[in-house]
Amino acid sequence: MVCTRSLSCLLLVALALSCVSGAAPLIHVSGYEGRDVNVSCPYGEGYESYEKYLCRNDCGNGDDVLIMTTQANKNKYSISDDINKRVLTTTISDLSSVDAGKYWCGVTRTGKDYYPAEVRLDVVPGKQVNSLFHYEEGSPPYVCRRQWSPLTEN
Ligand SMILES: *[C@@H]1O[C@H](CO)[C@@H](O)[C@H](O)[C@H]1NC(C)=O
Repeated sequence: MVCTRSLSCLLLVALALSCVSGAAPLIHVSGYEGRDVNVSCPYGEGYESYEKYLCRNDCGNGDDVLIMTTQANKNKYSISDDINKRVLTTTISDLSSVDAGKYWCGVTRTGKDYYPAEVRLDVVPGKQVNSLFHYEEGSPPYVCRRQWSPLTEN
């Protein structure tokens, strides 16, 4: 296909992208800060033997790929592919707030990769975040008193 004007090229690309993301289900996952979470993506029949991966944001470049099925573990990620159930499961360990956001499960194939699911990960703050502030019952409303702690320097 030849695009003669850049605007029509942009529109074609935008249309193609929206078709791709519209076809994949959105999976919501949440986990607690400091704990592990499992991200499971079901995928279509026929892709059992394909290499699969979890990638971050829009998976636009190689840096977005966090772990592939050819690696058992990488940093805080581990991955397993249940080819009988056709479910790809990635475990993200030691969750922190920077892990929250958008991910895609991907399948490597010739031409354009197949993305069986989009994932939104929420990270629920752990107790250590709240414990910096101490709410006192009985004191005037909306008063949070900062606890004495080495972290409260400013
Ligand atoms: C993640 O899945 C593994 C394997 O099924 C399981 O052992 C583990 O408990 C799960 N972790 C969480 C946080 O659900």
